[in-house]
Amino acid sequence: MAWIVEDRLKAYQPARNEPYLTARIKQEVSEKYFPRYPNKRAALLPLFHLIMHEYGYIAAQAIDEAAEFLELTPSQVQDAVTFYEEFRLEKTGRYVVNVCRSISCELCGHQRVLEKMREIFGIEPGETTADDKITLLEVECLGACEQAPCALVNEDLHGQIKPAEFCSQLQQLPAAPGHSTTDDVR
Ligand code: FES
Repeated sequence: MAWIVEDRLKAYQPARNEPYLTARIKQEVSEKYFPRYPNKRAALLPLFHLIMHEYGYIAAQAIDEAAEFLELTPSQVQDAVTFYEEFRLEKTGRYVVNVCRSISCELCGHQRVLEKMREIFGIEPGETTADDKITLLEVECLGACEQAPCALVNEDLHGQIKPAEFCSQLQQLPAAPGHSTTDDVR
């Protein structure tokens, strides 16, 4: 039996002076989630979601800070964060385009969406455009099979995608740096 080991060190970003877990994030977790659960550890997933929403990914430093805040070891936090596909450890572009590759979308042309993304933006799944605007990912079923092929752009679902039209919409999105708000993609 062979183990496949991924080198997570590649995902680590340099440390920064300001904490990822801002006072606002800590306050929200303390007031909204701690009272709901029997221990601090149970607030780990809500905390991940807050970090993802704020930064678009979960940096190594944020993992350390989350461990300290929730009184866990960094390895416990790392275990949890790497279990879920939707939590990313690497910085992404402003818009993360999650193209569904499960059966309905596959049958309805998810490959054509990827081909058009390749043609227009020059990226493959897992890559980000040079201007840090768009990251392309392939994901499993988004729960909207009746709208296949579909994709999630940050938090907004796009269904019955026509590849050229879809890419044209993406091209028109503002390219300013920073993680987007959902308002940008509506
Ligand atoms: S198969 Fe694509 S949303 Fe379900």
